[in-house]
Amino acid sequence: MAKITVLGQGECEFDGQFSMLEALDECGFDMPYSCRGGSCGACAVRLVSGEVEKIQDTAYETQPGEILTCSTIPLTDVTIELI
Ligand code: FES
Repeated sequence: MAKITVLGQGECEFDGQFSMLEALDECGFDMPYSCRGGSCGACAVRLVSGEVEKIQDTAYETQPGEILTCSTIPLTDVTIELI
């Protein structure tokens, strides 16, 4: 099981949910999102450390170092930062 650390907010276990966003929702984090489909960019966060895998095609183009929590799952323990 991978651990997701949200800088300044706390930690959450990833336990096979569809996406990081879903796991963070279940953990009670108030994460930004809108479409949940990789289009809007509202869920973009900075990946501080760790590795993630993309789980769906995304229309929104992230900046270097950013990931979409609605469209990724953690492969290792990860640390992310809200932007
Ligand atoms: S919620 Fe829209 S891109 Fe993730």
